[in-house]
Amino acid sequence: MRTFAMGRKWVTVSLWTALLVGAGSPLVAQAQSAARGQTLFEARCTACHSLDANRVGPALQTVVGRAAGTAKDYDYSQALAGAKHRWNRQMLLAWLTDPETVVPGQRMGFQVEEAADREDIVAFLTAKGKARASSK
Ligand code: HEC
Repeated sequence: MRTFAMGRKWVTVSLWTALLVGAGSPLVAQAQSAARGQTLFEARCTACHSLDANRVGPALQTVVGRAAGTAKDYDYSQALAGAKHRWNRQMLLAWLTDPETVVPGQRMGFQVEEAADREDIVAFLTAKGKARASSK
């Protein structure tokens, strides 16, 4: 009987844990996506980009919400310097799918094949931008 009671309690606790930590929570899903995005960013983007300095490509920490082609002191292609959009989630996903269709004549020779990878990288950049904004 005692074992039975403990068993039930354990089941209740597990259910609550599953509800609180569970995959159903959008916040948890976002955090997981951003964490995976960081790994992808480090593996694929940092050959050319850093978050806070211009390298081969422009600094990307504040790219979400920024007007295209406007990182301070970065020498853009004419095409990207003349682009008129802002970088939101949709534009970044399109850019990572194929930069040339977003801004013909640009010079980032790189694409991300997998849709899930693109989503996670953009989630990471969005989280980074927010962290920067709130630490100012
Ligand atoms: C081979 C080098 C290279 C790699 C790898 C690369 N980029 Fe770029 N990226 C560039 C260059 C160069 C530019 C500037 C293009 C221009 O001026 O036309 C750029 C521009 C950008 C821009 C536009 C920023 C702005 O200020 O308008 C974004 C966003 C971007 N890259 C994201 C990424 C992400 C995310 C990754 C990794 C998945 C990545 N890039 C990988 C070279 C690279």
